[in-house]
Amino acid sequence: MAKTINVGIIGAGFISPYHLKGYRKCTNVEVVAICDVVSERAEEMAERFEIPRTFTSVDKLLAIKEIDAVSVCTPNINHKQLTLKALSAGKHVLCEKPMAMNARQGQTMIDAARKARRKLMIALNNRFRAEAQFIKRIIDSGKLGKPYYARSQSIRRRGVPSWGVFGQKKLQGGGPLIDIGVHMIDLTWYLMGCPKPVSVSGKTYETIGATPGHVGMFGAWDHKTYDVEDLAVALVRFADGATMSIESSFCANLDKDVYGCQIVGDKGGAGIDPLRVQIEMGGHLMDCTPTHIPENNMYDEEIAAFVDAVAKNKPVPIPATEAIWTTKIIDAIYASSKANREIRLK
Ligand SMILES: NC(=O)c1ccc[n+]([C@@H]2O[C@H](COP(=O)([O-])OP(=O)(O)OC[C@H]3O[C@@H](n4cnc5c(N)ncnc54)[C@H](O)[C@@H]3O)[C@@H](O)[C@H]2O)c1
Repeated sequence: MAKTINVGIIGAGFISPYHLKGYRKCTNVEVVAICDVVSERAEEMAERFEIPRTFTSVDKLLAIKEIDAVSVCTPNINHKQLTLKALSAGKHVLCEKPMAMNARQGQTMIDAARKARRKLMIALNNRFRAEAQFIKRIIDSGKLGKPYYARSQSIRRRGVPSWGVFGQKKLQGGGPLIDIGVHMIDLTWYLMGCPKPVSVSGKTYETIGATPGHVGMFGAWDHKTYDVEDLAVALVRFADGATMSIESSFCANLDKDVYGCQIVGDKGGAGIDPLRVQIEMGGHLMDCTPTHIPENNMYDEEIAAFVDAVAKNKPVPIPATEAIWTTKIIDAIYASSKANREIRLK
């Protein structure tokens, strides 16, 4: 019989039920404990998902010997510290995105995972979207040729989260770019075939979020504590000559919200939001969008893939060593905006 993977959850806020629903669907997983600094949150989640033990101290949860793996579902500021603790307690880690506040912290996490010989996966769940997997297969089949340009867009026109700490730089590391931009930059880069970034030119704008009186899709947000960018734009150059443009916003006076990407190859192109495929045939650029692709739950697939890697002792599908490139790009966009020049990446 397959070994049961015992899991602990750190953080009982907005994202943790997505992890818990995914683990519940895995027949070889037992979620044995949950921890939150706010005890009621841990208790509420434990009741909802029938988790036997709750804690307010991470150390107590990590002291449970039977726990094989943990999900780190806390705000960005804690990702590094809690991941390091979990790794040194011998646990495999699925850490929420962004992997850390910056790439320096991310590298420390990678080094710790290597030293502990434990798996460290970053929850960039958009790679598991059905449309993303479909486009990845089309690109890998060579039908679009070599990707040389891509657009990454995570645009909310009035979408500052009204919960959590998403508008506070010291707790988040940044604004929309590090929160929702990270998903779409990672996905776009992954679909391009993970080319090596060499330089970044970016600019961030702060015009709306910190002022009162705006109506948002998630209700009112705290404009008084809001000190992150509203909009970030950038161009990334890759070693193979390809480029990626980036737009990411919580607030922008644009015509529509977009959460997707477009990949341009020398034989065709494809994009998400909306899903579109175009391929040149007989000299004509043809629209080849599928009539239907089966829906999936990207979170469930992400959790199942992590569990499978732990259970079978194989590499995780989104290793931290890969995820760190998006964090390096984001760091460079902020640095480029501040310095008003292009930033070289190593
Ligand atoms: N993958 C996705 O689609 C997605 C979506 C939303 C959020 N996230 C990420 O998940 C993380 C959490 O976001 P959220 O929206 O759930 O935030 P949240 O504020 O709703 O929940 C975070 C929880 O962590 C708890 N916490 C804080 N410090 C802790 C500590 N030291 N030990 C234990 N618990 C602690 C808080 O009390 C809170 O209950 C963020 O990094 C965010 O970027 C990912």
